[in-house]
Amino acid sequence: MPFVEANGARIPAIGLGTWELRGRTCARIVEQALKLGYRHIDTAQIYENEREVGEGLRASGVRRHELFVTTKIWTTHFAPNDLERSTKESLAKLRLSEVDLLLLHWPNPQVPLAETLGALAHVKKLGMSRHIGVSNFTVALIEEARALCPEPLACDQVEYHPYLDQSKVLEACARHGMAVIAYSPVAKGRIKNDQRLAQIGQAYGKTAAQVCLRWLVQQNVAAIPRTSKIERLSENIAIFDFELSDDEMRQIFEMASPKGRLTDYGFAPKWD
Ligand SMILES: NC(=O)c1ccc[n+]([C@@H]2O[C@H](COP(=O)([O-])OP(=O)(O)OC[C@H]3O[C@@H](n4cnc5c(N)ncnc54)[C@H](OP(=O)(O)O)[C@@H]3O)[C@@H](O)[C@H]2O)c1
Repeated sequence: MPFVEANGARIPAIGLGTWELRGRTCARIVEQALKLGYRHIDTAQIYENEREVGEGLRASGVRRHELFVTTKIWTTHFAPNDLERSTKESLAKLRLSEVDLLLLHWPNPQVPLAETLGALAHVKKLGMSRHIGVSNFTVALIEEARALCPEPLACDQVEYHPYLDQSKVLEACARHGMAVIAYSPVAKGRIKNDQRLAQIGQAYGKTAAQVCLRWLVQQNVAAIPRTSKIERLSENIAIFDFELSDDEMRQIFEMASPKGRLTDYGFAPKWD
């Protein structure tokens, strides 16, 4: 499994997204993913599955130091005391002494960013997370966060797939040594019906989803596809035995639109 390196973090290029995975399904999928070779698991306080993610981690038998576990702090916990308390709660649910990456889930203009970033850096210093970062931050917010945060930021986790142009965020992150972690990387499943990607994949014996994930990791982007199906766990990780040509990469870049965002989450910042 290749890694994306970012300000000291080594992030396994493919991780498992766990949004909407609940209960036994969640624990079982996490366990199976780890048994199949995944090493990076993405959860969040708001997913209400940190306990089950922790169960899956332990059931897999994979040693802690081989794992890369991310969780995200929900926006209502951005006041400094709340941030520290809720991080402790996340660790208790996961039954871990630290996570590998702790993210601010969305920007929250109601709480001064300097205070939240100060608290995030503080919990890192206390040993609750090896690395810290942000999610859903625009270029302007990345610049602001960089200037305000006393500790290096490892990433911005953002929606990214072939239908959405994220070149500005990619440039800003590269400028600051931060990784981009692509969420909704298979466009919430829509990629599987994409004719152009399927056609590119034919030459390699790969599916449209595999071509899509390969296109992301070939840009040095980490991706966290979610699936509730064991067979797709294997499919989504079998992308390291072929390489897209420059021309194929270009063809996929041409599919993007600045308006290709799939979901309006309601509390999103004003994307530039
Ligand atoms: N930071 C944030 O604000 C944020 C926002 C959204 C998501 N995320 C994270 O990113 C993860 C992934 O994003 P997402 O869940 O929105 O979307 P996604 O991973 O792009 O798509 C998930 C959907 O695609 C299907 N799928 C997965 N692999 C497939 C394949 N190989 N072929 C066909 N269909 C496939 C899954 O269905 P089946 O289950 O039927 O396979 C599921 O319905 C989340 O789980 C979460 O961890 C973060």
